[in-house]
Parts: sequence; structure tokens; C-alpha cells
Amino acid sequence: MRIGILTGGGDAPGLNGIIEAATRTLINLGHEALGIRDGFEGIYNRDVVPLTIDAVRGVHAFAGTFVGTSNRSGTEGREEEFIKAYKELGIDGLIVAGGDGTFRCLKGLDHDVKLIGVPKTIDNDLPGTDATFGYDTACSVVSEAVDDLRTTATAHKRIIVVETMGRTAGWIALGGGMASMADAILIPERPVNLNQFKTFLKEKHKSQRGIIVVTSEGVTLEEGVERDMDKSGKSVMVHDYGIGQRLAQWVEKEIDWEARHIVLGHLQRSHPPTTTDRFLTTAMGIVAARLADQNQWGQAAVYKNGQIHPVALESITGEPRNVDPEHRWVKMVQALGIFI
Ligand code: F6P
Repeated sequence: MRIGILTGGGDAPGLNGIIEAATRTLINLGHEALGIRDGFEGIYNRDVVPLTIDAVRGVHAFAGTFVGTSNRSGTEGREEEFIKAYKELGIDGLIVAGGDGTFRCLKGLDHDVKLIGVPKTIDNDLPGTDATFGYDTACSVVSEAVDDLRTTATAHKRIIVVETMGRTAGWIALGGGMASMADAILIPERPVNLNQFKTFLKEKHKSQRGIIVVTSEGVTLEEGVERDMDKSGKSVMVHDYGIGQRLAQWVEKEIDWEARHIVLGHLQRSHPPTTTDRFLTTAMGIVAARLADQNQWGQAAVYKNGQIHPVALESITGEPRNVDPEHRWVKMVQALGIFI
């Protein structure tokens, strides 16, 4: 068979691990692998690249994606064009590593397009899987930044607000903040009571030279800090939003404590994948290739109970898996005296 490999949506460290593992497995099973360039654009433009073992050897070590991606193109209103282009490519099926947006676009096309899914997002909020690859790497970027920033915060007796990605889910702020034992962790799933936060900060100001607040870009504040919304009233993306800066300004005004902020932004997506993410993507790429080899279309390779399992593709396209406000990690950080 000729199997296409497509990466869709925002990149996540580990995509190249999926490409390398799936390509090597497919070729070793006697199939041909074809990279679809730039997500759905590669289908519309019939833009593909032959994937050989020599071509992909070693790419697993890098963030980004060897075949390119896009989170700007969809299929709505272009379904027929998509199916026509897909058929013209002469491929027998697609392995797609993508997030909610990518799989939403492919819903309804599975009659014509044979699919194997691999759930992907640094945000860790896809349903049907215990974790997504890229998340561990994003948390490492956050925790290393917090560890480093603590030195300058302490030297200058400052508060530093570290803004993480995560859009509507607090997993990155929670995981990265917990791993680095930040002083406060603010996540969308636990709306921040600013009065309580102010009291916490005032106490800290008396007792600690400098502190680090980790805030998710989509955090919800109960009152007091001006914020922007997108047209639909939802939190918007990191570069438009600037909650870290607003919080730092609010602290200076309310507590009279010198504050700085830093937006970690796309650094969280561009760090080489951690070993944990490499374990995940190696196993997922192999399982995805084997599913294609066995003609088991309509399945996704997900991480459940410590292993990679095939599940129905629909199970990764439901409602996002947000942090339970009473999650055991929340209890853990509370036990450490961290504000959350
Ligand atoms: O969903 C992944 C993610 O990295 C979010 O955490 C973030 O809000 C968004 O993508 C940023 O997207 P873009 O790369 O389009 O700025």
C-alpha cells in the first residue's frame, strides 16, 4: 500500500517521532510512505514527498514537523475538492497526527478517506487518551524557565508572572508549575478569586524575597483585571491576549510589589522532545503503521493505562478533557502551600 502521513494543526514536539516511527514501520512491513506537505494544503495542492528510511532517520530528535503543518486550512465547503484531490494522489490511506480541529475537519469524509488518527496537542486536553505527546516537553520548558527565573526574582525581590500556553486548558501551567514548585499556579478551570490572591501575595511579600506566578494564557479571573475576549467571548491566543502582562501590572498597582512578566509562547512548542514524549511517539507511530498494515481504518493510537492502544477515532474528537478543578495534582500543589 501507499500510505500518506499528514500532520495537522499547531505543531507539537514529537510529530517527527511519529513520522519516523510510522515510516520505518510501514517500509519494514513492505509498504510505501508518503509525506503530505503542510497539513490539508498538501492534499489540495497534491504536494507530497516520498518518505524513505534514509530521509527520516534521526528526525525524531527535533521539534516541528518534517512535512510541515498548517492550522489555517480546513475542509468546510471544500469536501468534494478534498476527496477528489485525495483520490488523485493514489494513496490507500492516511495516518493523521492532529488535534481537535484537524479531526473535526475530517469527520464525515471517512467514507472516502481511510484514516488512522494519532492525537496531538501540547495542551494535553484531547479526550480518549490519558496524555498527548508534546505535553511533557511543554511542561519541561515551563519548569526550566521557572527554575531559572526564580534566581533573578529572588535577587531583585520581584514577582515574576510566567504565562504559559494551553488556551482553554490548564494542564501546561499546572504540570510545569508543579514540577518547578512555582509559588502560585493560575488555571482556567479554577477561576481566580482576586481578593484571596491579593491576600496570598501580601503575605508572601512580607516573608519571601521573590516569587513566581505561573498563569495559563486562558485563566479566568473573577474580577478586577481588564481582559480581552475574542468575538465569540472565548479566551484568545497567547500573542493577542497578554494576561501575564495584565496580571503583573495589577500586582504592582494593588500590592506595590515590583513585577515583571514573561510569555513563554511558542518556545513551549519548539523544544526538542523529551524522552517521555519520544517513548510515546515511537510507540504511537508503530501502532498507527500496524493498524494501516492490517487495514484497520477509523482507529486512533492512544495512550491509556501506560500503553498505546487502538480505539475508535470518534473517541478522540469529543469535548476537550480539561483539568478537574479537584484533580489530584491540584491537591498536591495545595499540600505544598502553592496558591491555586
Ligand atoms: O493548541 C496548541 C496551542 O499551542 C495553544 O496552546 C495556543 O494557544 C495555540 O496553539 C497557539 O496557536 P498559534 O500557533 O496559531 O499561535
